[in-house]
Amino acid sequence: MAAELRLGGAALILALLFSISSHCWLLTASSSSQDLQILNAERRIDLNSHIVKVFLTLKIENTGTSPVSEVLLAFPPTDIDRLALVKAAVTAGKRKKKTYLPLDVKPTEIPDAPNGAKFFSISLLNPLGKDENATLEVLYVLTHSLEPFPMEISQPESQLVYYRDSALLLSPYYVKQQTTFIKTPSTKVESFTRLESTNRVGTELKYGPYTNRAPYSFSPIIVHFENNNPFAVVEELVREVEISHWGNLQITEHYKLVHAGARHKGVFSRVEYQSRPAFSGVSSFRKILARLPPRVHSVYYRDDIGNISSSHLRTDYQKSELEIEPRYPLFGGWKATFVIGYGLPLQDFLFESSDGRRYLNFSFGCPLADTVVDKLTIKVVLPEGSKEPYVVTPFPVEQHLETKYSYLDVVGRTVVVLEKKNVVPEHGSPFQVYYNFKPIFMLAEPLMLAVAFFLFFVASIAYMHIDLTLSK
Ligand SMILES: *[C@@H]1O[C@H](CO)[C@@H](O)[C@H](O)[C@H]1NC(C)=O
Ligand SMILES: *[C@@H]1O[C@H](CO)[C@@H](O)[C@H](O)[C@H]1NC(C)=O
Ligand SMILES: *[C@@H]1O[C@H](CO)[C@@H](O)[C@H](O)[C@H]1NC(C)=O
Repeated sequence: MAAELRLGGAALILALLFSISSHCWLLTASSSSQDLQILNAERRIDLNSHIVKVFLTLKIENTGTSPVSEVLLAFPPTDIDRLALVKAAVTAGKRKKKTYLPLDVKPTEIPDAPNGAKFFSISLLNPLGKDENATLEVLYVLTHSLEPFPMEISQPESQLVYYRDSALLLSPYYVKQQTTFIKTPSTKVESFTRLESTNRVGTELKYGPYTNRAPYSFSPIIVHFENNNPFAVVEELVREVEISHWGNLQITEHYKLVHAGARHKGVFSRVEYQSRPAFSGVSSFRKILARLPPRVHSVYYRDDIGNISSSHLRTDYQKSELEIEPRYPLFGGWKATFVIGYGLPLQDFLFESSDGRRYLNFSFGCPLADTVVDKLTIKVVLPEGSKEPYVVTPFPVEQHLETKYSYLDVVGRTVVVLEKKNVVPEHGSPFQVYYNFKPIFMLAEPLMLAVAFFLFFVASIAYMHIDLTLSK
């Protein structure tokens, strides 16, 4: 960046800058990958749902002489598109007094990485000095990483899937000791790769401990196991959040839901399904839970045919739960398209910041439990007359502005459009949309109505008057 900005300057300065910056780069690259070593790595892979969660505890040590402030995480190139989220925290204190301080994680490029490995860089709060150690907790989430095999199953069959990984942590650092635990949803495991120190007890598979492995060590494994948990994927979700300063927040959500597991083959027997649901259709799902904020009102749920009344709403003071039941159970490859709408009290979500701007504080992500959203669009419709919208999100999202006209609008409403791919439940954290608004605009619509009525009144009097004079 710095070098780019000065491109227009003298060639000498440019050459000088370039040599300095490339020198710095070499320094950081060498200090970050050779001077760190992993004393202990513990990986816990949770394969219970169709969303793969990996909890990684890394104890790192700086064996070099200069302080290190970046720690690299490596991923195989095939994982990058499936990686929905990477989070990291540093732990301090022991046992009960343990505290977690979140750390910044960013994708980064390392040229000439072996086997096309891709990287994320974790920024430490305080650089790690010579001979110092630190413990990092990392969570990453992978979607579409369980491959159904067989690819097609009939109604009564269980769903089996493959999970592929490495028994050794892919890491740019030397790893002194490491262990990997894989948790399967049941004890029904068809097969798994056996290596040295491989152990299976109940629903847990253990690889390791392995000691003293060189950087970028890799040892492929494959686990074939039963997973009948709902493979609920929303291919596309559009959530519209409309702010009305008259006290309401109106939410409309358009879903394209699909069962992304093994494809259903053969005919579907509803009789069979209804008489023995536990056996006939284990891989299917018929209900899905939507977690909505407390104090929702005017909830509706409809599809292309019309309103669906078989949904149930439970509310308490902390949350609301809407149980959605499509018209038919979903088997592998089947889809359901539907709309959910609800209203919320504005004062729960709209606030005034210290500089006098208003802001919406609302939850990102998808209200459906344990669901992957391939493409999520959130449209925040601001009241007419709102200016200078500004968005704060806890992770990067694409954004642009649109204008929406509804009846009685003169200049139209600004719509803040946020888009994100590969969204998982861990993305359900609050985001904010700040904007400026002059209260006088609130009078625009009633004023227009009044003027319209007045004109209508005048016009009808005039008309009647004319009418009378003509009949005489
Ligand atoms: C890690 O550092 C602490 C002090 O910072 C030290 O007491 C401990 O022995 C170190 N652990 C290892 C394994 O080097
Ligand atoms: C569906 O329900 C909503 C809200 O309860 C209602 O306003 C609408 O008229 C209903 N539509 C049909 C087609 O029944
Ligand atoms: C947004 O709401 C959450 C709770 O839902 C709260 O923890 C957070 O502090 C709020 N953020 C702002 C900026 O008001």
